[in-house]
Amino acid sequence: MISSNKGGFEIMINWINETLEKVDKKLSRTSVIYKDFIPSSIDENGKFTTIYEKSPAGWTNGFWGGLMWLMYTKTNKDCYLEAAKSNEKMLDKAFEYTETLDHDNGFRWEITSGRSYEHTGDKDSRKRLMLAANMLVGRYNPLGDYLVAWSQKDRQGWAIIDCMMNLPLLYKASEISEYERFKEIAIKHADKTMKHHIRPDGSSNHIVVYDTKTGEYVESLGGQGMDANSSWSRGQAWAVYGFALSYKHTKNQEYLDTAKKVAHYFIANVSITDYIPKTDFRSPDEPDKRDTSAGLIAAAGMMEIAEHVPEYEKDIYVKHAYNLVKAIVDKYADWTEEYDGIIKNGMIQYKSPSPTYLPYGDYYLADALYRLKEYFEK
Ligand code: GLY
Repeated sequence: MISSNKGGFEIMINWINETLEKVDKKLSRTSVIYKDFIPSSIDENGKFTTIYEKSPAGWTNGFWGGLMWLMYTKTNKDCYLEAAKSNEKMLDKAFEYTETLDHDNGFRWEITSGRSYEHTGDKDSRKRLMLAANMLVGRYNPLGDYLVAWSQKDRQGWAIIDCMMNLPLLYKASEISEYERFKEIAIKHADKTMKHHIRPDGSSNHIVVYDTKTGEYVESLGGQGMDANSSWSRGQAWAVYGFALSYKHTKNQEYLDTAKKVAHYFIANVSITDYIPKTDFRSPDEPDKRDTSAGLIAAAGMMEIAEHVPEYEKDIYVKHAYNLVKAIVDKYADWTEEYDGIIKNGMIQYKSPSPTYLPYGDYYLADALYRLKEYFEK
């Protein structure tokens, strides 16, 4: 854990660079082996497995391609570009799910095609980004001002905190197309989420149910946390990062204040568990269920906050982001060739029987590390 002592920053910078070298070494190898593959999990021998054949539209199917695009933009290595392009094409199959494709299009296409278009100007990537954004705005209920989560006909009033991370797809669609409607819908959804998901103490509901005709709040549900009034840590992490990104694209101060409030709540909780988040912050200490992905997402989100707060406020977010990444890497990173992934001990949800590899754990590890590196190199 880092303190503000003299030389602390140098220790941090060295560690970040060393860790990024290990990330690059590991991914340079797996990007070649898994160029035409979308990893979802890992088997008992440490090898990637996939759900792509069975579920081409699975919500996690953008993270490997997203990680490849991220690594390519940072290193310029061909191995990443080839895997990124191949993955982006494979993901086209998800567009065939015209009636059931859910709210997670940002996780599928903003971090893949969005990054590709930004970096290469590829017109096919732009088409994918715009198609994904058009499908996402189709989920908007104008009577309630929210984007509906998932695709069950009996759950049309459901909205979830995770969806905050899909809004950047809409902001980007407006930025590149100059059609305002994508951004306007993102703002409506963010405002509604700020009002009904975020609790006064900075914690967040996972699922909120609205009346589909009036948009009135009906109830909140437990979702992937322990229960309705508990606090699913990955949901809190999506809120930190999601509201910070909504601030980036709108400059609405309320969004930044919300991101900060949830970050402070997150920091208070992880500081009593050695920076390895409980899967649910309000669960009992036993059974001890930790979710590494929550910590890495929150760390990347705190670095986004640090981009926007005044100089004298930045330290708190940077240092806690560093503490999270360092604690998780020290305890749960696997740099061997026997294990295909990097970060272990993610939890799909509180009720999952055991921890596992989660592709978004590795994605947000790289995201957080590069954000830390770039912060110190500015
Ligand atoms: N978006 C679902 C999850 O975070 O597990």
